[in-house]
Amino acid sequence: MNIQTLPRIVATAFLAHGAARKPPSSAGSRTAWCAPALWALAALLQWGPAQAQPTLPQPQPTAAQGAARVDLPQARFSVGDNPAWAQPAFDDRAWKILRTTAPWEGQGHEGYDGFAWYRIHVVIPSSLKTGSDWPERLRLQLSAIDDADEVFLNGVRVGKTGRMPADAGGFESRSQTVRDYLVDLQTGLVRWDRNNVIAVRVYDAGGSGGFHKGLPSLSVPQRAEGVQLDQARLRHRFLGADDVQTTVVLSNRFPLPQQGDLQVQVLDQASGRVVLRAQQRVNMAPEQTAEVELTLPARPGIEASFQYVDVPTGLALGSTLVVPYVLTPPDAATPALHGASVRGAHPGTPLHHRVPATGNAPLRFSAQGLPAGLVLDAASGVISGTVPAAGRYTVRLTVNNDLGSAARDWTLVAGEQLALTPPMAWNSWHAFGTHASDALVRQAAQALIDQGLAAKGWAGVHVDDGWQAARRRADGSLQGNERFPDMEGLGRFLHERGLQFGLYSSPGATTCALYPGSLGFEAQDAATWVGWGVDHVRYDQCSYAEQLPARPTLEDHQKPYRQMGQLLRQQPRGVVFNLCQYGEHKVWTWGAQLGGHSWRMTGDIQDSWADLLATGFSMAPYAGFVGPGRFNDPDMLMLGLMGAGELRPTRLTSDEQYTHISLWSLLAAPLVLGNHLPALDEFTRGLLTNSEVIAINQDARALSAVRVLDRNGWQVWVKELEGGARAVGVFNTGPRFDRFEVDAALFGRSGQRYQPRDAWRQRDLPARNGSLTVAVPSHGVALLTIR
Ligand code: GLA
Repeated sequence: MNIQTLPRIVATAFLAHGAARKPPSSAGSRTAWCAPALWALAALLQWGPAQAQPTLPQPQPTAAQGAARVDLPQARFSVGDNPAWAQPAFDDRAWKILRTTAPWEGQGHEGYDGFAWYRIHVVIPSSLKTGSDWPERLRLQLSAIDDADEVFLNGVRVGKTGRMPADAGGFESRSQTVRDYLVDLQTGLVRWDRNNVIAVRVYDAGGSGGFHKGLPSLSVPQRAEGVQLDQARLRHRFLGADDVQTTVVLSNRFPLPQQGDLQVQVLDQASGRVVLRAQQRVNMAPEQTAEVELTLPARPGIEASFQYVDVPTGLALGSTLVVPYVLTPPDAATPALHGASVRGAHPGTPLHHRVPATGNAPLRFSAQGLPAGLVLDAASGVISGTVPAAGRYTVRLTVNNDLGSAARDWTLVAGEQLALTPPMAWNSWHAFGTHASDALVRQAAQALIDQGLAAKGWAGVHVDDGWQAARRRADGSLQGNERFPDMEGLGRFLHERGLQFGLYSSPGATTCALYPGSLGFEAQDAATWVGWGVDHVRYDQCSYAEQLPARPTLEDHQKPYRQMGQLLRQQPRGVVFNLCQYGEHKVWTWGAQLGGHSWRMTGDIQDSWADLLATGFSMAPYAGFVGPGRFNDPDMLMLGLMGAGELRPTRLTSDEQYTHISLWSLLAAPLVLGNHLPALDEFTRGLLTNSEVIAINQDARALSAVRVLDRNGWQVWVKELEGGARAVGVFNTGPRFDRFEVDAALFGRSGQRYQPRDAWRQRDLPARNGSLTVAVPSHGVALLTIR
């Protein structure tokens, strides 16, 4: 029997899409907290007799502390697709039993992509209704499903998420969406106290397959469960440097009115003091929302706890917010130059380079020592032309405005190497998934400039999966689909702005989202892309596994990357090459030999703390493989408004987001954004435009930080910078705001006087000898440079 308690059910209704802190005990989950009132008021249920299937263990309702939920930990499973499998009478006794808490890959169906069905037999006890104060709906919470699903209860479709390949609009993955379906009980669909069949038709386009996030369950919800405090809908407006005005949005998803009290308590974790207590009555009409505005302190360590207490029943729902704060100071009005001090390029190839600079408009650019064949546009700061013969060309760049001027050296290294510092780009995948279009990509490119990101060095615009037409032309060449009618025009648009054009493909027959891959057309595709002006290729393994022999050798795994690496090198254009093969077969040891400039080190990242631990924080053993033109890629940045076509704010807390950027900068990881740039909020803008933090990532030595301490929830990472300085990240991976004394020996300054600087605030700290103590919120970071 699976013991779950009612508070968990109610908390799930509150499942935060924003920055709720996970309780220390439940690794990876992001549940809200609940008041004891709920425990007391929950009614105990009586369960009817279970009519178990012959071999499938019958799911049992949970009864602890008045639970009102039936867990569904197992299901019968078959690959294939047949409409008859939706019917309750279908005899599935020959089907295998799988766990519903993990994908089918790993349960005997390795490598299987395509259609599959789950059938869950469950007695639904009528006592579920008596345990609810509003017995009108059955709620099916079916975890996340990779990729698209349709759910049938006793043969009738009751829910659907994503789209199947044959659906209008084509296949759409929604692999990260937690399925939460409501069935109206008036339809009479539920067979109370008898066997019911929940049939789940799944289409998996690639990757793990099926249920993969938590334990599916069913319940008859409480009325108050219709209320959600959705952190994805919180809005923040910063008032000066010290405060933030936060709008809390409560919504009522049920067709009945709701009345409750929103109680707020704000804790300053640095002092341990409660700095605000507030309460407000909230009335919500059926299926309507209500907003409550609060002014909160905006500095590290401020945590707001919200509790909504349903007036009729006293049921309480809770959520915790790490209050966001902006550390990056505003740009000066006087001119400043930013970005990497070096760039690699192949001799004789075209170059487009935007000089990153800030200051009041209009800015005027000039350059001394620019090699022949290259010109600088004085108004836009775009350098274009042809890369000169092999050699190092140091150019003195100057930028002026009415208030003054700034100058610095920039070195163009013409030769074999590209990507001397990590690529900094925007990629379409996490904002738009397969809905990206030419118009959205151009909009993102323009936003990169208008929002001030290009001025800090963000220069790539990468079109990820979903741009390809289903069919090649008669001559075998790839073409853009109806959303990408003019790839060459898109390339021109980007280059005119000094931006780099990135494109995605797969060595397999199909990409991960089932668009045509490059298999059999490699040389033609490389030439086609370069004809469009492509500067960066992301080559994603996906269906290539089907091409491997039964017992593949390392050479078999390397073959498609070696081939594309050579083809790209032969093009009359420098193309930066990303090997997207998830860190398999020690790619970090051979990626560069095959022509790669960066290589994915892990599976796909998501926006959770657990994912940061599994990606960025797991890079420690591989630091030594990083250098100019060779970068470990722990995957894209999970920041801002994102969600592969279903835009929502990242689920990382503010502190986790500071950690994300700080760690990727220390690792010299490619910085690839996945957020919707036109809607950049103030907090995210601060994260993405801090020139001193970016300078750590773009340092010309291009080394990865080394983890020098990993103890009691603290990690210290140290990166050697040009000129003998060090960047130091002190990460608090523990559950509480805390202080930590960093021994100067950790960053090589034992017994020496040194000058620490707070990189995010861009402020010197007092020069000192000996150790340095930092105060860091849970999951946050202190990022310092040491001179
Ligand atoms: C894989 C990659 C993702 C994305 C998708 C596109 O999952 O790892 O980053 O490119 O494919 O289908």
